Amino acid sequence: MNIKVLGSAAGGGFPQVNCACSNCADCRAGRQGLAPRTQSSLAVSTDGDAWVLLNAAPDLRQQIAATPELAPRREQGARSSPVKAVVVTNGDVDHIAGLLSLREGVAFALYASPRVLAALAANSIFNVLGNGCVPRTVLPLDRALEVTDGLTVEAFAVPGKVALYLESEASSAFGTREGDTIGLKVSEPASGAAFYYIPGCAAVDTALASRLQGASLVLFDGTLYTDEEMIAQGLSGKTGRRMGHISMAGPEGSLAAFAALDVTRRVYVHLNNSNPVLREDSLERAEVERSGWEIAFDGMEIGL
Ligand code: MLT
Ligand code: MN
Ligand code: ZN
Repeated sequence: MNIKVLGSAAGGGFPQVNCACSNCADCRAGRQGLAPRTQSSLAVSTDGDAWVLLNAAPDLRQQIAATPELAPRREQGARSSPVKAVVVTNGDVDHIAGLLSLREGVAFALYASPRVLAALAANSIFNVLGNGCVPRTVLPLDRALEVTDGLTVEAFAVPGKVALYLESEASSAFGTREGDTIGLKVSEPASGAAFYYIPGCAAVDTALASRLQGASLVLFDGTLYTDEEMIAQGLSGKTGRRMGHISMAGPEGSLAAFAALDVTRRVYVHLNNSNPVLREDSLERAEVERSGWEIAFDGMEIGL
């Protein structure tokens, strides 16, 4: 199984259009060791021919252009695409807006939770993905589904939050329901290879910890280093917790949660522009690497 990180940044990308934080400013200035990043998406294939996208970022056109494996093959006709399916892990803009860039009349299958499918159905702009061309299928929880030949995806609910644009102040937890944020176990049954992809997650609870125990690869929510970093940098009034994202550091952070787990390879994805680990020479970067984590970058390839 081949995994390509198409985009390793959180919503907004890196640098973010409206952001003059020190990371974004230094990235714009071309500082070494601070690479730009597009928004959150992976591509997966078992044969190199058919590819499944895990999330469809607003930067998808640029990501496909940068990924020769995702280019149309002339021998398959004048119009075609190796992208055979898209699986979405939540309804956030960084994970669905790229669907609109796939609207050119080539068929693919779309899989998402009932709540995300409802959000797409309620936004008529997504009707450009006609049902005849782009069938939408509910991704059940806790049951593996074959999304393309030889590749299965099992979705499971993780602690999280409803998409920002669907938040309701009137209800508890902003109207979040189970399954608004899902993690994916992606498997190649023929080889037994499998990995977990969890780009948004508010906490590693006991259910999630026991699910991940023994995994050979987990790509996990690396949005923030500390819960209050966006407030501390004057970027936002929100904590990571409020945004539905666990932080890396701290007693309840992902570094601590994974320290107790047997996970062979652990990779942070969905990195926010405020995160100090984006700087290759930062103390925080050294700390996460010392703890056995890798920081994903655009174009990163992982073979399983
Ligand atoms: C998030 O991951 O918190 C979202 O991408 C936020 C957003 O929709 O901008
Ligand atoms: Mn996001
Ligand atoms: Zn910034």
